[in-house]
Amino acid sequence: MLYIGIDLGTSAVKLLLVNETGKIVNSVTKEYPVFYPQSGWSEQNPDDWWSACIAGIGELTAGTDVDEIRGIGAAGQMHGLVILDKDDTVIRPAILWNDGRTEKEVEYLNHTVGENKIADYTANAAFAGFTAPKLLWLRKNEPWNFDKIYRIMLPKDYINYKLTGVHSCDYSDASGTLLLDTGNKRWSKEMLQICNIHEWQLPKLHESFEVIGSLCHKAAKACGLSEKVKVVAGAGDNAAAGIGTGTVGDGKCNISLGTSGTVLISSEGCRMDPRHAIHTFAHADGNYHLLGCMLSAASCNTWLCDTILHTSDYGAEQRRIPENILGKNHVYFLPYLMGERSPINDINARGTFTGLTMDTTREALVLSVLEGVAFGIRDSLEVIKSLPLPVTGSTFCGGGAQSPLWQKIFANVLNMPLGMVKTEQGPGYGAAILSMVGCGEYDSVKEAVGRLVEITRIVEPDSMLTEQYELQYQKFKKIYPAMKQVFLELR
Ligand code: XUL
Repeated sequence: MLYIGIDLGTSAVKLLLVNETGKIVNSVTKEYPVFYPQSGWSEQNPDDWWSACIAGIGELTAGTDVDEIRGIGAAGQMHGLVILDKDDTVIRPAILWNDGRTEKEVEYLNHTVGENKIADYTANAAFAGFTAPKLLWLRKNEPWNFDKIYRIMLPKDYINYKLTGVHSCDYSDASGTLLLDTGNKRWSKEMLQICNIHEWQLPKLHESFEVIGSLCHKAAKACGLSEKVKVVAGAGDNAAAGIGTGTVGDGKCNISLGTSGTVLISSEGCRMDPRHAIHTFAHADGNYHLLGCMLSAASCNTWLCDTILHTSDYGAEQRRIPENILGKNHVYFLPYLMGERSPINDINARGTFTGLTMDTTREALVLSVLEGVAFGIRDSLEVIKSLPLPVTGSTFCGGGAQSPLWQKIFANVLNMPLGMVKTEQGPGYGAAILSMVGCGEYDSVKEAVGRLVEITRIVEPDSMLTEQYELQYQKFKKIYPAMKQVFLELR
């Protein structure tokens, strides 16, 4: 039997065809554009996602006996606001997870309504990328669009809606809307009232591995699949990556290095960071997780290489870096190219290079970007380590995690062994596993993960380098507080 895992990312949709023993039989990636209509804003067209999914599924399954395909699971970029009118037409482009236009709305939620009250309702504080502040922004700035809203959905739920005609959402993705009473797994009446929306506009909630329906006639025809194919509710991309890397149970950790950088700790109860710097979300196995999210991670390296150095050969840039400057770099990079979420929650923060001298080399700049991203993840990990959840190691996934140099930097900056799993495509693999559970191939997510996820290699920290990076991290930590006020003045 075969299962399709969809990872609806920010730069592309990545599709996996996986058999019941966990073997990846085929994979396809289809890119689509991101639009930045104003500085700090980011949007995408939901129909670009859907066209890419149809084309991708066609390519993925070409030459396969389609009767073998039993289920589909989708994981997706979280928090994006997708709105449809009464005729099922998308009202405006989706406002994405890394969009920073909602500064005033976040201020209203965290300060006028009050951070503690918002956290009582949802288990989280407000952050600019979350969905609820976007609804407030829309009501104020585009009331003509707000008034047309018939259905509110998240990015992967738009794909599930196109596939099945069912308006659904899973608890992990719903947690990132700031509309969910996360501890009780139901929409928060208080938040709905604050945002002036009705429960009927929101999707029905499910566990990630629950079947929401089968392919509708139109979608089956468009994708060349049978109407018998079942679709599960799926998950936010980080929760799905947690499943794809075996991060279930109490205190397991996964670090994902994609456009965003995240650190996810699975938890058997609904635990909260009392300072709300780290999110409390439902997990895709029915439990919970804590999540720290950097808005720009591997995308910092992409930006440096593509936009500044005009090269697409990232490997060559990294191979030129001499081993002996690791842990001794004088250049520091703040990775806040889209502002920052965890742990500083500052949408006005910006990227900086600090410590440049006449002898600074191209290699030192490239290295500082790789190191700055690792230091940024360490900031979130420090908060997580202050909670009563011991974290002693992690898995490491996502496109950026394939770089041997970045693996070494992360293991030493975090002073933790990093487990590399068979596939770096955590979210898509996790989504395929969820569909296997939904279709009855495995009894539970825990069982499926135990049977399918394999750690193939461990990257160990080196005690000398760890010490050097510790000193460097202590210096890095001083840069943002010194710049915070300047960033405000640069707006
Ligand atoms: C998590 C987050 C990002 C997106 C990116 O809170 O905003 O990781 O899900 O895909």
